[in-house]
Order: sequence, then C-alpha cells, then structure tokens
Amino acid sequence: MLRRILIAMTAVALLGVGGVGSAWAAKGEHPHDHEWSWEGPLGTFDRAQLQRGFAVYKQICSACHGLQHLSYRNLGERGGPFAAYESHGEITLGGHGRLVDPNDNPYVVAIADDFEVSFIDPDTGIEDTRPARPSDRFRYPFANEALGRAANNGAYPPDLSVIVSARHYGADYLRSLLLGYTGEQRDGKWINPYMGGGLIAMAPPITADVAEFFVYDDGVTATQEQMVDDVVAFLAWANDPKMEVRKQMGLSVLIFLFVLALLLYAAYKQVWRGVKH
Ligand code: HEC
Repeated sequence: MLRRILIAMTAVALLGVGGVGSAWAAKGEHPHDHEWSWEGPLGTFDRAQLQRGFAVYKQICSACHGLQHLSYRNLGERGGPFAAYESHGEITLGGHGRLVDPNDNPYVVAIADDFEVSFIDPDTGIEDTRPARPSDRFRYPFANEALGRAANNGAYPPDLSVIVSARHYGADYLRSLLLGYTGEQRDGKWINPYMGGGLIAMAPPITADVAEFFVYDDGVTATQEQMVDDVVAFLAWANDPKMEVRKQMGLSVLIFLFVLALLLYAAYKQVWRGVKH
C-alpha cells in the first residue's frame, strides 16, 4: 500500500515538474537586470527622465496604446512628471513652493489640449471630437477593441497603465522586450525572444532609425537605449503614481516610531527608577 502511494506521489511530482518546465519555455527569455532610479526603499523617479519618457509615449506609443487608469491631470500631481510649483507668482516645473492645482497647471493644460477625445454632443446626439481637458482620461486611440485589432493585424494593443505590474520582472522585462527585437519576421510577426512564445505582433516601436530623428526638449541625445529607458521609467511611474508620496510617508512613520521608542524607553527608566526588580 505504502509503495503504491509513493509511486503515485512520485508520478504526480514528475508531472508537475514537467508542467512547470513547459510553462517556462513559453514564457520567453529571462530579462536583463537593469538598475532603475526608483528601486529600493528610498529610490525616486528622475523628473527629467519622466518628462522625456512621456514625450516618447506621446509621440510613438500613444498611436496604439492608451493609459486608461490615468487622467492628464495626474501628470501634474505631486511626484508626477509635470508637477508645477508656484513661488513669488512664478510657476516652474519641480522646485519649491505651493503645488499648482493639476487642473490649472499650464503644462498639463497644454498637454491635454494636444490630444483629441471624442464626446457625444448633448444637443444633437452626434459623436464629435474636442481637445482633451486635464480631467479627461488618457485617450484610447481606437474606438473599440475590434477597430484596435483591425488596425494591428488582429492583435490587440493592451492598455499600458499597469503593464509594469502585469508582467513578471516589470520594468526589466519591458526594457529587454523593447530592445530585444532581432529584426527578423515570421508568420507576419516579429521575432523577439523576451515575448512569451518568441513572436510579437507589435513592430519594433523604437529602432535606431527612429532614435536618429527623435529630439528631446532637454538636449539629451535620443539614442535607442535612452528612449527605451525613458519610456519604461514613464510607464513605471504611470503604474504607481503615488510611489514617492508613499515612500516619504513610510520614512516619516519610521522616524516617528523611532522617536516614540526613545521616549517610551526614557519614561520606563523614569517610572522604575529606584525600584528593585
Ligand atoms: C502601431 C501600433 C503600436 C505602437 C506604435 C506601439 N505598440 Fe506596443 N503593441 C502593439 C500591439 C498590436 C501589441 C500586441 C502584441 C501581441 O500581442 O503580440 C503591443 C504590445 C505591447 C506590449 C505588451 C507586450 C506583452 O508582454 O504582451 C508592450 C509592453 C508594448 N506594446 C509597449 C509599447 C511601447 C512602450 C510603445 C512605444 C514606444 C509601443 N508599444 C508602441 C502595437 C503598438
């Protein structure tokens, strides 16, 4: 009896290992480990990098991918790429002073104004387009999934707001994927070892040729790798826009607990002074 149970258990274990093995094969190559500024308990985003990453998203990725969990005004919130501060009547990006309400932030208003969103005219009932406002969600470029697929050979470009959390190895995976195209095609798709199954329906969005003609406002040279790093940083921020605020709060809580522990220890010493125990 015991032998039969043991044999059955071994068989199950072997099957299990086999199953896991084939799942790994379908998962694609292990991404390269990259050092990001926001990693670790005190890591923060590089504001200039987020702005550059947004430029890449806007000029390239937003043709096919939305960011439906974000509104344009999130860009101007504390920790966001375009958070603006007012001091002595002057509004600047970053810096000190009072945070400008993201709805009135001139940078955010200008960004939103550049995107067109559709709406239904309440008077006529006819669908029309208008420039976006800071309170609008990031526009999804296709009217619906069917049209999104039709424009992309049947593949659906996923929303990118939480893609960094939705994939194993998040930012590292995205970076390896975007840099990992071999340049060859098979069955109308592109070969990319980092994509599960090895084939991806998205044409390489950031190639060396694209980088050659891309110009950053801040004077940083746009190489393929720089553009990929920047857009991945922007997507990591989009995935967790409150990260910096949360880390700061965590640090304050730790400092508070440390001071509280010192005070409690001093009080304990005071109360029990002179008492034999
Ligand atoms: C011309 C349209 C198009 C553009 C432009 C585009 N993508 Fe895609 N993207 C797609 C399609 C289609 C898919 C789905 C691919 C598939 O399922 O094989 C996709 C998938 C993805 C995925 C998911 C991969 C996965 O693991 O499933 C990521 C991440 C991504 N794109 C990032 C980007 C970034 C970043 C940019 C801008 C630099 C960009 N894309 C530009 C069409 C596009």
